[in-house]
Amino acid sequence: MRKTLLITLVAGLFVCCAPKAAEIPQTPGVIPQPNGIEIKEGSVSFDRFGRIVADAQLLAEAQLLQESLSRMGYELELGKGRGKAVKLVYDPESDAESYELLVKANSIEIRGDAPGVFYGCQTLLQQVYTSGQVRLGDIEDGPRYGWRGFMLDEARHFFGKQEVMKLLDMMAYLKLNKFHWHLTDAQGWRIEIKAYPELALTGGIGTHSDPYTEAQYYTQDEIREIVAYAAARHIEVIPEIDMPGHASAANRAYPEFNGGGSGQFPDFTFNVGKEGTYAYLTTILKEVASLFPSQYIHIGGDEVFYGSEAWKKDPDVKALMRREGLPDIKAAEGYFIHRICDTLKTMGKQMIAWDDVLGFEPDRAQSVICWWRHDRPQTLVQSLDKEYRTILCPRKPMYYDFIQHSSHSCGRTWDGFCPLEDVYAFPDAWYEGWGLEEDDMDTVLGIQSNLWTELVHNTDRLYFMIYPRLFALAEAAWTEAGNKDYGSFARRLDPYYGLMDKLGIYYFDAREPSAHSEPAGPVIIKR
Ligand code: ACM
Repeated sequence: MRKTLLITLVAGLFVCCAPKAAEIPQTPGVIPQPNGIEIKEGSVSFDRFGRIVADAQLLAEAQLLQESLSRMGYELELGKGRGKAVKLVYDPESDAESYELLVKANSIEIRGDAPGVFYGCQTLLQQVYTSGQVRLGDIEDGPRYGWRGFMLDEARHFFGKQEVMKLLDMMAYLKLNKFHWHLTDAQGWRIEIKAYPELALTGGIGTHSDPYTEAQYYTQDEIREIVAYAAARHIEVIPEIDMPGHASAANRAYPEFNGGGSGQFPDFTFNVGKEGTYAYLTTILKEVASLFPSQYIHIGGDEVFYGSEAWKKDPDVKALMRREGLPDIKAAEGYFIHRICDTLKTMGKQMIAWDDVLGFEPDRAQSVICWWRHDRPQTLVQSLDKEYRTILCPRKPMYYDFIQHSSHSCGRTWDGFCPLEDVYAFPDAWYEGWGLEEDDMDTVLGIQSNLWTELVHNTDRLYFMIYPRLFALAEAAWTEAGNKDYGSFARRLDPYYGLMDKLGIYYFDAREPSAHSEPAGPVIIKR
């Protein structure tokens, strides 16, 4: 879609209903709602299409489309030949991630850059899935936000490659494009580091519910495989290696870099005073940088105060503070954050960190802030005032470890919970409460939901906390505010419950909350 083409939603066309077998739906049955649709009367039955013809730049997208269609029972050939074709046309002039889907009686054409064509294919697949038909007309579509993210914590509980790939498949289907992978925390270190093998072998032992579980982690080969799998689906994977707090698992493996902790949070920090800690973390980050092509590495930086009191008595931290003229442990924390940010720069990477680091004023050109503390909108205001690129992921409503219905009890609450409706309404319904307006959002990269997994120990609970909120996230991230309508969304969501049934996903049924009962939480084993 070219910049000169205005996106317009033809009002009223998105009156959706659940598709019935031989009935053509009134809408294309697409989530997220496209931003521009011109639909003509009538539709074309997809089983009349026999091949996919793609420009050379789009062969990978064509192959994925062919595979997805095959899973739905439509066998299409790749390449030129007789018969009706789905054409994939590469358009380098297209806006980023945008596409045009032009459907005529005898042809389907999807045009855009490579991600755009991939998303056009998802729009097509969703129509075929919901009705076997494709509406005649023209969809010109592009995203509201460039950052449409989801974070999974595999440090507290580990789910493994197949589950991550299944999640990536659904993210791609919903046009989500950033997978933030929380790989290290107090309860487990989940990524192989060749220079420090005990990080995975020892640090990988245990989960939040069972500290005795054998080591679980991703080998570097598995990481490469997952990153490539994501990239083929136009998803960027951003690893999070949490520091200088949330480091207990690493400290079990290499206690010489332990900076101490406090009662409830033993061995929680890296030792920011030791020169050796910086060499150690640089080596780790170098290996991480080589595995993830993303320009970003997330370094956490959150909740260091849970353990940093110990620094007051640590001779190395005290020596650092004297040497650098740092007045208190907070300043030592700031020193650490600046140094790690500089280290990442030498690797050609930028730092993402939780909003806790804002007070240290890291280099704006090198830093992206994840705003998570919903109870501190002033922190968001600060991030935007200082023109930091900012990702909106406040606990409420974007933390999926919060329960999503009043009948649920296993998960967090905080003056309420995080229902589907609130995820859908994000962020627009919150501006007033933050004292901000759309115009203040210039440096907002986008939005993200986060799933922390202390109370998520099996796939039933994993799916139950993610779905169907992931669908609402997708529409909140992609669809312009003026094109969103919760009633329409809920109706378009209806057929996707059936898809989740087919995929073995145990979702929360927002239509009938008692239909799927809340899976029991983990039994916590203490040492
Ligand atoms: C966080 O939830 N500690 C970022």
